[in-house]
Amino acid sequence: MSLRLGDDAPDFAADTTDGEIRFLDWKGDSWVVFFSHPADFTPVCTTELGRASGLNDEFAKRGVKMIAVSVDPVEDHRAWAPDIGEVTGHALAFPIIADPDHRVSELYNMIHPGEGDTSTVRSVYFIDPRNKIRTIITYPKSVGRNFDEILRVVDALQATDANPISTPVDWRPGDRVIVSPTMTTDEARERFDNVEELKPYLRYADAPSS
Ligand code: BEZ
Repeated sequence: MSLRLGDDAPDFAADTTDGEIRFLDWKGDSWVVFFSHPADFTPVCTTELGRASGLNDEFAKRGVKMIAVSVDPVEDHRAWAPDIGEVTGHALAFPIIADPDHRVSELYNMIHPGEGDTSTVRSVYFIDPRNKIRTIITYPKSVGRNFDEILRVVDALQATDANPISTPVDWRPGDRVIVSPTMTTDEARERFDNVEELKPYLRYADAPSS
């Protein structure tokens, strides 16, 4: 059965470029961005892993660990890793899981047979400190992901966990937010700055500081 938002992230043991791990032990109480790529020594994947590595410090500042997976063996991951640094200028900054028997990829529904073969598509799972799956996005093999968007989703999840707010279309950190429908406008004015009621159901406020 495929995983859904709010489900517990399934645990597994696997070999990675950093050695054997048990996923939830490795994760601890961090946020995790867990993403699949189709194959090693492929062009789009090389650019994605480089960009993700370049943003690793930004993810770490937000308490997020990154980890990737593909169905290639660990020796291939290790042989490919130097290309990522050479081509993109960013050395691989997080582990890649080896999944030649597809155990992990199938557990996380990352293989979509309609996408050509039995390699993984470009799935991204956002897992929170309580091990709950909070966002899932899936791209086809031919379309490289936007890791600025992945970072933005982390910011939005953390912002909406910290306060009774939602984030509007195209929101970026620092932009105004939408007051949760669970609050009255009077309650919102006590809690947030510059509350503006465009409609009874659409109230904007300045982003709270925490
Ligand atoms: C790539 O990373 O370039 C790629 C991998 C598999 C299928 C299509 C593109």
